[in-house]
Amino acid sequence: MVIFGATGDLSGRKLLPAIYNLAKQRLLPAGFAVVGAAISDLSDDAYRKRAEEVITKFSRTQPVDPTVLHSFLQGVSYVKVDFSKLDDFKALQRKLVELDHSRHVAGSRVYYCATPPPTYETITEQLKAAGLTTGGGGFHRIVVEKPFGFDLKSARELNRIVQRVFHEDSVYRIDHYLGKETVQNILAFRFANSIFEPVWNCNLIDSVQITAAEEIGVEMRGAYYDKAGALRDIVQNHALQLLALVAMEPPIAMEANTVRDEKVKVLRAIRPIVDVEVARSTVRGQYTRGWVLGERVAAYREEPAVAPGSLTETFAALRLFVDNWRWANVPFYVRVGKRMPKRVTEIRILFKRPPHLTFGRQATQEVDPNAITLRIQPEEGISLRFGAKVPSAGVRLRSVNMDFLYMSSFLVETPEAYERLLLDCMIGDPTLFTRADEVEAAWTVIDPIETAWRDDRPQLTTYAAGSWGPASATKLLQADGREWHRP
Ligand code: BG6
Repeated sequence: MVIFGATGDLSGRKLLPAIYNLAKQRLLPAGFAVVGAAISDLSDDAYRKRAEEVITKFSRTQPVDPTVLHSFLQGVSYVKVDFSKLDDFKALQRKLVELDHSRHVAGSRVYYCATPPPTYETITEQLKAAGLTTGGGGFHRIVVEKPFGFDLKSARELNRIVQRVFHEDSVYRIDHYLGKETVQNILAFRFANSIFEPVWNCNLIDSVQITAAEEIGVEMRGAYYDKAGALRDIVQNHALQLLALVAMEPPIAMEANTVRDEKVKVLRAIRPIVDVEVARSTVRGQYTRGWVLGERVAAYREEPAVAPGSLTETFAALRLFVDNWRWANVPFYVRVGKRMPKRVTEIRILFKRPPHLTFGRQATQEVDPNAITLRIQPEEGISLRFGAKVPSAGVRLRSVNMDFLYMSSFLVETPEAYERLLLDCMIGDPTLFTRADEVEAAWTVIDPIETAWRDDRPQLTTYAAGSWGPASATKLLQADGREWHRP
């Protein structure tokens, strides 16, 4: 596996620790090797030293096993690559051929672009020019990080360039949310059980809320984030993927293309929010100073590398509709934000109230409508909310929860999303990666919203760091007679 951007944050925090943990679970083939590639001038030993440090610091399993780490590091090496220099790619090619011999491997390659998006085109083209995409007796796959494109046009262009070099089956567009166990479990929950699917439609479901909140701000990613914003950073990929998994039809089998076909259908069925509708159905917010988890924090505009008068949103809320038979007129409310009170991602399926008030109006009002909450993170699990009779004389009702928690049911630590995804890529299973048409369908939803937002419709609103977003987000639901669930 060649990691471009080998000295960057993603490689250090996620990729190297994930590969080490795969090694620890004995899931890597014998002879597997990692080649770090980046602009810095580093020796193999110096890169190994860095790898050792980040693995020791960020590994999911602690403490690190010195024997596994030592043997893993023997398969790690480094090549200096300036993406603009073909000669550097040729040197990389020589290194890989050398490794094929010394480690007795068949010459299969995974190229991981852990680099900023503008480099994907150059890397792909240089790989081809240096003869790194054919021959060697094995497969050649490329992994591309999000954001895949900046809008529909650039995503199409990028797809075209990448597909000129790699067959679509060899392109692995990562959305790390799909590697999360709880996200994969959405399909198990829906399609491995018979009791949920019959009620999973507009006859009984009132609305769906998807929340992806983070307590962190933009940290050291201001330069990237200020150009992206919450809509591109989270909604276009993670949040729409969650929506697609909740709303899709049962696939014929758990196979890459059948699953992705169904997701694409959902994305295509999302009613476009255009023109005046954008101001009515979307909210954009930016955090000001405030308190998060007991600490005083700066405003977004005071963060490093953020423009002082920036209009970039750190919060986005949308009301979407999936225009098909199953979901007719069921609103999907999506809300994502940074510097919110806590880190929590959940999907809440809210059911309609019973059609007849058997227990009278007052008793019934004390009970919330039924709800299923898929807790993606943290406290991973699922809960069902329903009404129960309070044990006392007379009839009083109250809402109670029935909870499933991964921790207590399975007693195992869930693997990191990246472990699962890297392994799937090596095995050649793209089910949990986004297909070209899927990425484009997602941008089709986002593009008109971005256009209106750039035109300042609706206006950017602010929220204090540590709150649940701007007042306009509350009003978005109030206008429909609903309110956000507080996770
Ligand atoms: C990334 C975004 O894709 O997901 C980040 O770029 C965000 O801004 C991160 O913080 C959240 O991922 P997770 O797994 O911590 O929910």
